[in-house]
Amino acid sequence: MKVVASHTIADLRRRVREARQGGASIAAVPSMGALHEGHGRLIERARAECGFVVVTVFVNPTQFNEPADYARYPRTFEADLTFCEARGADVVFGPPVEEMYPHKQQTFVETGEVAQFMEGRFRPGHFRGVATVVAKLLNIVGPDKAYFGQKDAQQVAVVRRMVEDLNFAVEIVEVPTVRESDGLALSSRNARLSAEERRMAIALYEALTAVKDRIAGGERRSIEVKRCAAEVFARYPGVRPEYFEVADPVRFTPVERIEGPVRLAGAIWVGQTRLIDNLLVIPEAG
Ligand code: PAJ
Repeated sequence: MKVVASHTIADLRRRVREARQGGASIAAVPSMGALHEGHGRLIERARAECGFVVVTVFVNPTQFNEPADYARYPRTFEADLTFCEARGADVVFGPPVEEMYPHKQQTFVETGEVAQFMEGRFRPGHFRGVATVVAKLLNIVGPDKAYFGQKDAQQVAVVRRMVEDLNFAVEIVEVPTVRESDGLALSSRNARLSAEERRMAIALYEALTAVKDRIAGGERRSIEVKRCAAEVFARYPGVRPEYFEVADPVRFTPVERIEGPVRLAGAIWVGQTRLIDNLLVIPEAG
Protein backbone atom coordinates (compact mmCIF):
# COMPACT_ATOMS: atom_id res chain seq x y z
CA MET A 1 0.00 0.00 0.00
CA LYS A 2 1.12 3.54 -0.68
CA VAL A 3 2.28 5.57 2.28
CA VAL A 4 0.45 8.84 2.90
CA ALA A 5 2.15 12.14 3.75
CA SER A 6 0.25 14.18 6.31
CA HIS A 7 1.24 17.72 7.23
CA THR A 8 -1.45 18.96 9.60
CA ILE A 9 -2.52 17.79 13.03
CA ALA A 10 -6.20 17.72 12.02
CA ASP A 11 -5.51 15.53 8.98
CA LEU A 12 -3.28 13.15 10.93
CA ARG A 13 -5.84 12.83 13.74
CA ARG A 14 -8.60 12.02 11.26
CA ARG A 15 -6.53 9.25 9.69
CA VAL A 16 -5.64 7.75 13.06
CA ARG A 17 -9.30 7.92 14.16
CA GLU A 18 -10.40 6.04 11.04
CA ALA A 19 -7.74 3.37 11.55
CA ARG A 20 -8.78 2.94 15.16
CA GLN A 21 -12.46 2.68 14.20
CA GLY A 22 -11.38 -0.07 11.80
CA GLY A 23 -9.96 -1.95 14.78
CA ALA A 24 -6.22 -1.25 14.28
CA SER A 25 -3.79 -0.67 17.10
CA ILE A 26 -1.68 2.45 16.55
CA ALA A 27 2.12 2.76 16.52
CA ALA A 28 4.13 5.99 16.64
CA VAL A 29 7.76 6.16 15.52
CA PRO A 30 9.04 9.67 16.32
CA SER A 31 12.00 10.84 14.22
CA MET A 32 13.71 13.92 12.87
CA GLY A 33 13.98 12.40 9.41
CA ALA A 34 17.15 11.77 7.35
CA LEU A 35 16.07 8.21 7.87
CA HIS A 36 18.57 5.35 7.90
CA GLU A 37 18.52 1.66 8.80
CA GLY A 38 18.45 2.50 12.54
CA HIS A 39 15.09 4.21 12.06
CA GLY A 40 14.19 1.39 9.67
CA ARG A 41 14.45 -1.16 12.45
CA LEU A 42 12.02 0.87 14.59
CA ILE A 43 9.50 1.08 11.74
CA GLU A 44 9.75 -2.66 11.02
CA ARG A 45 9.22 -3.51 14.67
CA ALA A 46 6.19 -1.19 14.78
CA ARG A 47 4.85 -2.76 11.56
CA ALA A 48 5.17 -6.24 13.10
CA GLU A 49 3.35 -5.28 16.29
CA CYS A 50 0.65 -2.77 15.30
CA GLY A 51 -2.07 -2.40 12.69
CA PHE A 52 -1.39 1.25 11.78
CA VAL A 53 2.08 2.78 11.77
CA VAL A 54 2.68 6.54 11.95
CA VAL A 55 6.25 7.77 11.43
CA THR A 56 6.71 11.38 12.51
CA VAL A 57 9.38 13.44 10.76
CA PHE A 58 9.98 16.74 12.51
CA VAL A 59 13.27 18.51 13.12
CA ASN A 60 12.35 19.92 16.51
CA PRO A 61 13.87 23.36 17.08
CA THR A 62 13.33 23.31 20.86
CA GLN A 63 15.77 20.44 21.46
CA PHE A 64 18.75 21.96 19.64
CA ASN A 65 20.97 23.86 22.01
CA GLU A 66 22.96 25.27 19.07
CA PRO A 67 21.09 27.18 16.32
CA ALA A 68 23.80 26.23 13.79
CA ASP A 69 23.25 22.53 14.50
CA TYR A 70 19.49 22.99 13.91
CA ALA A 71 20.11 24.93 10.68
CA ARG A 72 22.39 22.29 9.18
CA TYR A 73 20.40 19.23 10.30
CA PRO A 74 19.64 17.25 7.10
CA ARG A 75 16.11 17.57 5.74
CA THR A 76 15.22 14.88 3.19
CA PHE A 77 11.44 14.52 3.35
CA GLU A 78 10.87 12.98 -0.10
CA ALA A 79 13.54 10.32 0.46
CA ASP A 80 12.13 9.69 3.95
CA LEU A 81 8.69 9.10 2.44
CA THR A 82 10.07 6.50 0.02
CA PHE A 83 12.03 4.90 2.86
CA CYS A 84 8.88 4.63 5.03
CA GLU A 85 6.85 3.22 2.18
CA ALA A 86 9.41 0.44 1.62
CA ARG A 87 9.09 -0.53 5.29
CA GLY A 88 5.33 -0.55 5.28
CA ALA A 89 4.48 2.57 7.27
CA ASP A 90 0.94 3.86 6.79
CA VAL A 91 1.43 7.59 7.34
CA VAL A 92 4.40 9.93 7.54
CA PHE A 93 3.52 12.97 9.63
CA GLY A 94 5.73 15.88 8.57
CA PRO A 95 4.31 19.08 10.03
CA PRO A 96 5.87 22.47 9.32
CA VAL A 97 7.28 24.26 12.37
CA GLU A 98 4.26 26.62 12.49
CA GLU A 99 1.94 23.61 12.85
CA MET A 100 3.81 22.31 15.89
CA TYR A 101 4.66 25.70 17.40
CA PRO A 102 2.03 28.18 16.14
CA HIS A 103 2.72 30.55 19.04
CA LYS A 104 5.74 31.00 21.20
CA GLN A 105 5.46 27.89 23.37
CA GLN A 106 4.76 28.77 27.02
CA THR A 107 4.35 25.29 28.44
CA PHE A 108 7.22 22.80 28.63
CA VAL A 109 7.85 19.43 30.23
CA GLU A 110 10.34 19.90 33.06
CA THR A 111 12.66 16.93 33.35
CA GLY A 112 14.42 15.83 36.54
CA GLU A 113 17.42 13.81 37.65
CA VAL A 114 17.22 11.33 34.75
CA ALA A 115 17.96 14.24 32.38
CA GLN A 116 20.64 15.87 34.52
CA PHE A 117 23.87 14.10 33.59
CA MET A 118 25.65 13.13 30.36
CA GLU A 119 23.58 14.48 27.44
CA GLY A 120 21.61 16.61 29.89
CA ARG A 121 24.78 18.16 31.26
CA PHE A 122 26.46 18.85 27.95
CA ARG A 123 23.36 19.89 26.02
CA PRO A 124 21.50 22.26 28.34
CA GLY A 125 17.78 22.39 27.57
CA HIS A 126 17.99 19.45 25.17
CA PHE A 127 15.83 17.02 27.13
CA ARG A 128 13.30 19.70 28.01
CA GLY A 129 12.82 20.14 24.26
CA VAL A 130 12.76 16.39 23.62
CA ALA A 131 10.27 15.67 26.41
CA THR A 132 8.04 18.53 25.29
CA VAL A 133 7.95 17.54 21.62
CA VAL A 134 7.50 13.83 22.45
CA ALA A 135 4.57 14.78 24.73
CA LYS A 136 3.07 16.83 21.89
CA LEU A 137 3.59 14.05 19.32
CA LEU A 138 2.10 11.42 21.64
CA ASN A 139 -0.92 13.68 22.21
CA ILE A 140 -1.27 14.27 18.48
CA VAL A 141 -0.96 10.63 17.37
CA GLY A 142 -2.45 8.94 20.45
CA PRO A 143 -0.58 5.64 19.88
CA ASP A 144 -0.87 2.38 21.80
CA LYS A 145 2.88 1.89 21.42
CA ALA A 146 5.74 4.29 20.70
CA TYR A 147 9.14 3.10 19.45
CA PHE A 148 12.53 4.48 20.49
CA GLY A 149 16.11 3.38 19.82
CA GLN A 150 18.66 2.39 22.44
CA LYS A 151 21.18 4.45 20.46
CA ASP A 152 19.76 7.32 22.53
CA ALA A 153 19.45 5.38 25.77
CA GLN A 154 19.13 8.41 28.04
CA GLN A 155 16.39 9.77 25.79
CA VAL A 156 14.45 6.52 26.24
CA ALA A 157 14.89 6.80 30.02
CA VAL A 158 13.68 10.42 29.98
CA VAL A 159 10.65 9.48 27.87
CA ARG A 160 9.85 6.45 30.02
CA ARG A 161 9.98 8.58 33.15
CA MET A 162 7.76 11.26 31.58
CA VAL A 163 5.21 8.66 30.50
CA GLU A 164 5.16 7.23 34.02
CA ASP A 165 5.11 10.58 35.86
CA LEU A 166 2.46 12.15 33.62
CA ASN A 167 0.34 9.00 33.11
CA PHE A 168 0.50 8.80 29.34
CA ALA A 169 -1.51 5.80 28.11
CA VAL A 170 1.24 4.46 25.86
CA GLU A 171 3.69 1.57 25.95
CA ILE A 172 7.30 2.55 25.22
CA VAL A 173 9.15 -0.04 23.13
CA GLU A 174 12.99 0.00 22.99
CA VAL A 175 14.81 -1.20 19.90
CA PRO A 176 18.51 -2.26 19.96
CA THR A 177 21.11 -0.03 18.30
CA VAL A 178 21.80 -0.73 14.63
CA ARG A 179 25.52 -0.53 13.77
CA GLU A 180 27.81 -0.52 10.74
CA SER A 181 29.90 -3.67 10.31
CA ASP A 182 32.80 -2.09 12.26
CA GLY A 183 30.49 -1.15 15.14
CA LEU A 184 29.81 2.54 14.44
CA ALA A 185 26.23 3.29 15.46
CA LEU A 186 24.14 4.52 12.53
CA SER A 187 23.31 8.21 12.87
CA SER A 188 22.00 10.93 10.58
CA ARG A 189 25.11 12.86 11.60
CA ASN A 190 27.50 10.24 10.15
CA ALA A 191 26.77 11.65 6.69
CA ARG A 192 28.74 14.76 7.65
CA LEU A 193 31.97 12.83 8.31
CA SER A 194 34.85 13.00 5.82
CA ALA A 195 36.58 9.70 4.98
CA GLU A 196 39.30 10.48 7.53
CA GLU A 197 36.74 11.46 10.20
CA ARG A 198 34.79 8.30 9.50
CA ARG A 199 37.89 6.28 10.41
CA MET A 200 38.26 8.27 13.65
CA ALA A 201 34.57 7.95 14.54
CA ILE A 202 35.05 4.33 15.58
CA ALA A 203 36.99 5.51 18.68
CA LEU A 204 33.81 5.73 20.75
CA TYR A 205 32.60 2.19 20.06
CA GLU A 206 36.15 0.96 20.58
CA ALA A 207 36.27 2.67 23.99
CA LEU A 208 32.89 1.20 24.93
CA THR A 209 33.93 -2.34 24.02
CA ALA A 210 37.37 -1.97 25.66
CA VAL A 211 35.66 -0.89 28.87
CA LYS A 212 33.14 -3.70 28.60
CA ASP A 213 36.05 -6.19 28.40
CA ARG A 214 37.74 -4.53 31.37
CA ILE A 215 34.56 -4.95 33.43
CA ALA A 216 34.25 -8.56 32.28
CA GLY A 217 37.83 -8.98 33.54
CA GLY A 218 36.71 -7.94 37.02
CA GLU A 219 37.25 -4.16 37.15
CA ARG A 220 34.57 -2.52 39.29
CA ARG A 221 35.91 1.02 39.75
CA SER A 222 34.40 3.61 37.41
CA ILE A 223 37.50 5.79 37.66
CA GLU A 224 39.63 2.96 36.24
CA VAL A 225 37.09 2.26 33.54
CA LYS A 226 37.15 5.92 32.49
CA ARG A 227 40.94 5.81 32.37
CA CYS A 228 40.68 2.84 30.02
CA ALA A 229 38.34 4.82 27.74
CA ALA A 230 40.72 7.81 27.82
CA GLU A 231 43.57 5.53 26.67
CA VAL A 232 41.55 4.51 23.63
CA PHE A 233 40.67 8.13 22.78
CA ALA A 234 44.35 9.12 23.09
CA ARG A 235 45.11 6.83 20.13
CA TYR A 236 42.81 8.96 17.95
CA PRO A 237 44.30 12.47 17.71
CA GLY A 238 41.37 13.78 15.62
CA VAL A 239 38.86 12.88 18.33
CA ARG A 240 37.85 15.19 21.16
CA PRO A 241 36.02 13.23 23.87
CA GLU A 242 33.29 15.21 25.62
CA TYR A 243 32.35 12.72 28.32
CA PHE A 244 32.53 9.04 29.08
CA GLU A 245 30.29 7.96 31.93
CA VAL A 246 29.29 4.87 33.87
CA ALA A 247 25.65 5.25 34.81
CA ASP A 248 22.82 3.52 36.58
CA PRO A 249 20.78 2.03 33.70
CA VAL A 250 17.41 3.34 34.94
CA ARG A 251 18.22 6.56 36.80
CA PHE A 252 21.05 7.61 34.47
CA THR A 253 23.04 8.96 37.38
CA PRO A 254 26.82 8.29 37.50
CA VAL A 255 27.98 5.37 39.66
CA GLU A 256 31.41 5.07 41.31
CA ARG A 257 31.39 1.30 41.67
CA ILE A 258 29.96 -1.22 39.25
CA GLU A 259 27.81 -3.47 41.39
CA GLY A 260 25.13 -4.44 38.89
CA PRO A 261 24.12 -3.57 35.32
CA VAL A 262 25.47 -0.21 34.13
CA ARG A 263 25.00 1.89 31.04
CA LEU A 264 28.30 3.06 29.56
CA ALA A 265 27.69 6.22 27.60
CA GLY A 266 29.93 8.67 25.78
CA ALA A 267 30.05 11.60 23.42
CA ILE A 268 32.91 12.62 21.13
CA TRP A 269 33.58 15.35 18.63
CA VAL A 270 35.13 14.37 15.32
CA GLY A 271 35.81 17.63 13.52
CA GLN A 272 32.54 19.58 13.62
CA THR A 273 30.42 16.49 14.23
CA ARG A 274 29.25 15.30 17.63
CA LEU A 275 28.61 11.58 18.02
CA ILE A 276 27.11 9.64 20.93
CA ASP A 277 26.89 5.95 21.73
CA ASN A 278 26.30 3.65 24.67
CA LEU A 279 26.37 0.02 25.79
CA LEU A 280 24.55 -1.84 28.54
CA VAL A 281 26.99 -3.94 30.54
CA ILE A 282 25.87 -6.65 32.94
CA PRO A 283 28.83 -7.77 35.06
CA GLU A 284 29.02 -11.32 36.33
CA ALA A 285 28.20 -11.57 40.01
CA GLY A 286 31.06 -12.17 42.45
P1 PAJ B 1 16.20 10.87 15.61
O1 PAJ B 1 17.60 11.21 15.98
O2 PAJ B 1 15.75 11.03 14.20
O3 PAJ B 1 15.95 9.39 16.05
C1 PAJ B 1 14.67 8.82 15.94
C2 PAJ B 1 14.67 7.48 16.64
O4 PAJ B 1 15.55 6.58 15.96
C3 PAJ B 1 15.18 7.59 18.09
O5 PAJ B 1 14.37 6.79 18.94
C4 PAJ B 1 16.59 7.04 17.98
O6 PAJ B 1 17.07 6.45 19.19
C5 PAJ B 1 16.41 5.99 16.89
N1 PAJ B 1 17.71 5.67 16.28
C6 PAJ B 1 18.59 6.53 15.70
N2 PAJ B 1 19.71 5.87 15.30
C7 PAJ B 1 19.53 4.57 15.65
C8 PAJ B 1 20.33 3.38 15.53
N3 PAJ B 1 21.54 3.40 14.97
N4 PAJ B 1 19.81 2.21 16.01
C9 PAJ B 1 18.59 2.19 16.60
N5 PAJ B 1 17.80 3.27 16.73
C10 PAJ B 1 18.26 4.45 16.27
O7 PAJ B 1 15.76 10.96 18.56
C11 PAJ B 1 15.19 11.79 17.88
O8 PAJ B 1 15.19 11.76 16.49
C12 PAJ B 1 14.43 12.96 18.48
O9 PAJ B 1 15.05 13.33 19.69
C13 PAJ B 1 12.92 12.66 18.72
C14 PAJ B 1 12.70 11.52 19.70
C15 PAJ B 1 12.23 12.35 17.38
C16 PAJ B 1 12.25 13.93 19.30
O10 PAJ B 1 12.40 15.02 18.47
